[in-house]
Amino acid sequence: MRQPNPNPRAKNILVVDDDESIRQVICDILELEGYNCLVSSSVSEAKTCLDENPFDLILSDINMPGESGIELVRYVFDKYPDIATIMVTGVVDHNLAEAVFELGVYDYITKPVSRSGVLISVKNALHRRELEISNRTYREGLEKMVADRTTSLRSIMQQLRETIDGVIQTIALTVEIRDPYTAGHQRRVATLARAIAIEMGFPGESIEGIYHAGVIHDLGKISVPAEILSKPGRLTVNELNLIKDHPQTGFDILKDIKFPWPIAQVVLQHHERHDGSGYPQGLTGSRMLPEARIIAVADVVEAIASHRPYRPALGIDFALEEISRDKGIAYDPDVTEVCLKLFSEKGFQF
Ligand SMILES: [Fe+2]
Repeated sequence: MRQPNPNPRAKNILVVDDDESIRQVICDILELEGYNCLVSSSVSEAKTCLDENPFDLILSDINMPGESGIELVRYVFDKYPDIATIMVTGVVDHNLAEAVFELGVYDYITKPVSRSGVLISVKNALHRRELEISNRTYREGLEKMVADRTTSLRSIMQQLRETIDGVIQTIALTVEIRDPYTAGHQRRVATLARAIAIEMGFPGESIEGIYHAGVIHDLGKISVPAEILSKPGRLTVNELNLIKDHPQTGFDILKDIKFPWPIAQVVLQHHERHDGSGYPQGLTGSRMLPEARIIAVADVVEAIASHRPYRPALGIDFALEEISRDKGIAYDPDVTEVCLKLFSEKGFQF
């Protein structure tokens, strides 16, 4: 055997054959061409050699005493999948050739070997191996990049979600600090509206939007003087008109915020009524957003059931009677039905 090729890029090839003369011929051809060549006379010797040296390619006989070349390539595919394999055999058998190709062997050459036959086959196999390794490296790099970007996108989405939650909570708090009588009202409306949306089978994203809209639906009340909001007696027509502006005011404040839900529109429509008797636009049910139909019912139920500055709490039974009586008139019939069911059958409580 010649001295190893000092070129660090020279390829290392293992030749496995029980016939010494064949090993010698193949090694001579390869070494003359600049390859580094090691030999093994059996599969068990080859396995030890593989465990001790790095190889790019194996040229192996098929029929040998002990384990066969087929068993060797199976071992190689399992333990060293980056090593290319070529079978060298005296048996000309198309079925056998097909079987080893199916296993993943790159080529099948027959003895007696020729110089050009060996070199063409070796060069092809090494070229194909390099392509496969670089394709795999590229694919793995791409997969890692996609995974990294997905992780960072998820984290950005999470931050965005937390920012939206924070904005909504801050707005809700602003309203509640100014108007103690509606403290908690918005949150209770949001909770009931969300329960109705879930029961009606709304998709998860919409349910989240309905909850957020509920939490700030009375935002526009910050433009109403606090003494009107907390006035214990009857309101004058002017005072009532000021309060009636709050859906429009809320809409005006929210309309330029790019929420992923139509929150500003829902806030604008939450005092509309199914029969068109609501305000500010007098929309009928079919023109109201589904989210607004839900908030409208939840808002009324909570408002009637709870204490107001001008009257004591009327209780949930009274509230449910009210929406039941006006079901399909002032209130969306489906939403009302689901709301009644939540309290009567599903044990919903504020
Ligand atoms: Fe309101």
